[in-house]
Parts: sequence; structure tokens; C-alpha cells
Amino acid sequence: MTSLLKQSLKLALVQLAAGADKTHNLSNARSKVLEAAKQGAKLVVLPECFNSPYGTKYFDKYAETLLPSPPTESQSPTFHALSKLAKEANVYLVGGSIPERDDTKKELYNTSLTFSPSGDLLATHRKVHLFDIDIPGKIKFKESDVLSPGNKITLIDLPEYGKIAVAICYDIRFPELATIAARRGAFLLLYPGAFNLTTGALHWELLARARATDNQVYVGLCSPARDMQAEYNAWGHSMVVDPNAEVLQQLDEKEGVLVEELKAGKIEECRKGIPLYTQRRFDVYPDVSEGGKFEE
Ligand SMILES: *[C@@H]1O[C@H](CO)[C@@H](O)[C@H](O)[C@H]1NC(C)=O
Ligand SMILES: *[C@@H]1O[C@H](CO)[C@@H](O)[C@H](O)[C@H]1NC(C)=O
Ligand SMILES: *[C@@H]1O[C@H](CO)[C@@H](O)[C@H](O)[C@H]1NC(C)=O
Repeated sequence: MTSLLKQSLKLALVQLAAGADKTHNLSNARSKVLEAAKQGAKLVVLPECFNSPYGTKYFDKYAETLLPSPPTESQSPTFHALSKLAKEANVYLVGGSIPERDDTKKELYNTSLTFSPSGDLLATHRKVHLFDIDIPGKIKFKESDVLSPGNKITLIDLPEYGKIAVAICYDIRFPELATIAARRGAFLLLYPGAFNLTTGALHWELLARARATDNQVYVGLCSPARDMQAEYNAWGHSMVVDPNAEVLQQLDEKEGVLVEELKAGKIEECRKGIPLYTQRRFDVYPDVSEGGKFEE
């Protein structure tokens, strides 16, 4: 039987504190990624917004230019730091997300870069769903005031292991994206994300387990560490969930590194037990995986 995950894979989620000093935070990310690699991780994930403080007013100042690719060192120090780090640690590296500036369109994006163990850029995901909320007298947080959305689903082939999907934070609330990626063969859905203390307590684990239940794949969520001195307090609790929706491991709210082995054959075993994959009724409802945009 062929397995979606071709061989077992150690996944690491690196939960970092990110503050105002980009250089410091990049070097902190480096030491944590090397530590994960030492523990045998071959795929390492950094959190959302790991190189800048979190909040719409910071994005412009911290944004880097990624296009045309590859950017120069001065256009994107983070691109080059991540590329070097992937190579140094000999891992696939999903670089959380960073604010990206597209100079031609004068637009900002929330962007995740994935590098191969040789340091090559494999994929770029721009956050598809922007979070806008405006309840008069209560709360206003409009990402679309400063950010533009990405327009594609990001599936990445790691030749020795299989395909993974990368999306960002709020994207996890949209099951279509996950389902399309899973039915196109992803064994793992990865979401760098920063939920707050309300939505984190209420939905973080629920969403990770829901996407795993729906799709019978592994799910990994990687958050920044919580910093109560910062303006935005992230939930933390980076976690890995298996295709049966069991939480295999999760961190608390502090900085930390989680390493967990994803097992070849687990997805197939789960799908045999609960055969969603052969019992769908596309005569009753449409197959969403026939749609989906994969190129910008
Ligand atoms: C960057 O990262 C460190 C270590 O995680 C964190 O404690 C700090 O708040 C961040 N910012 C600065 C200014 O160092
Ligand atoms: C990216 O998206 C998140 C979560 O929806 C948002 O709140 C965050 O501020 C954005 N981060 C960056 C780096 O643009
Ligand atoms: C977290 O975000 C939700 C949704 O925007 C909001 O209703 C809530 O008040 C926020 N909680 C905190 C602690 O900031």
C-alpha cells in the first residue's frame, strides 16, 4: 500500500517570542531551529509574525520585499537568514510568516516562505483570508486596511516525504482550503498562527482537531510564545494533531520547541477505520477539491 506520507518524518514546531529587534529575533529563531534539527527534526516550522511585533501598525515598518525573487540581502534579510538556516540545519523550513511589501503594487501581504534543506525557496504563501472585525464601541481590527490577500492554495512537495499544505492563522477557519489541499494529497496541514487569549482558549485546539477530523491528515499549528508585556498576547499552545484528531503533543504558552514523529501509514490506517474517502456522495453535493486555485 502506498502511503501519503512516504516515510516517517520528525516535525518540529518552534514557539518563539518576537519583539522589536529583528536581528535578535532572527538569531533566536536560528538557535531554536538548530536545536530542533539536533533532535532529528527534518521539517521545522516557525510561528506567524516571528520577526516583528504583531499588530497592523508595525507591518509597514517591518515589511520586506520578496519580489522579484530572490530578493537582495537588503530587500529581505529574513529571506536570506531563512535560506541559510534551512541549509545549515539541513531541514525543510516553513518560515512562519512575515509582513511582505510588493513595491510594484505598493501593497503589503502576510507571507510564509518555505525553504528546502539546500536553502532553495520552495513556496510562498500569502495569507488568503484577511481578518476584519468591526463591532462599533467594542473592537476594531481590520487587516484589510493595511494588507492585501493572497489568491491561491499552497501545496508543497517534499520529494522524500510527500505533500504538505501551508496556510496562515485565520485561513484555518475556512475548511474548504484544507479539504482541497488534503484531497490533492497533502499529508499535513500547517498553520503558523497567532490566536489571542479569547479565541485561543475557545477555538485553537478545536480548529486543529476539526481540520484533522474532516480530512484525516496531520495538522500542525505554530504560535508565537505569549508575552504579556506586548500589545498583542498570543495564545501559544503550538500543537500537532494526528489524522484521528488526537493531540499528540502541545506546548504551553512559553517559548519552546516541540518535536513529534509523524508516522507513515497512519493516515491510511485511520481512513480504513472511518472510510470518508470512499463514501463521499458527490451526486448529492459538489466535490470542492475539483476547484481551488494553486497559482497566483
Ligand atoms: C526577540 O526575541 C526574544 C527572544 O525570544 C524576545 O524575548 C524579545 O522580546 C524579542 N525582542 C527583542 C527586542 O529582543
Ligand atoms: C498575519 O495574519 C494574522 C492572523 O490573521 C494577523 O493578525 C497578523 O497580524 C498578520 N501578520 C503579519 C506579519 O502580517
Ligand atoms: C480576541 O479576538 C476576538 C475576535 O476578534 C475578540 O472578540 C476578543 O475580544 C479578543 N480578545 C482579547 C483578549 O483580546
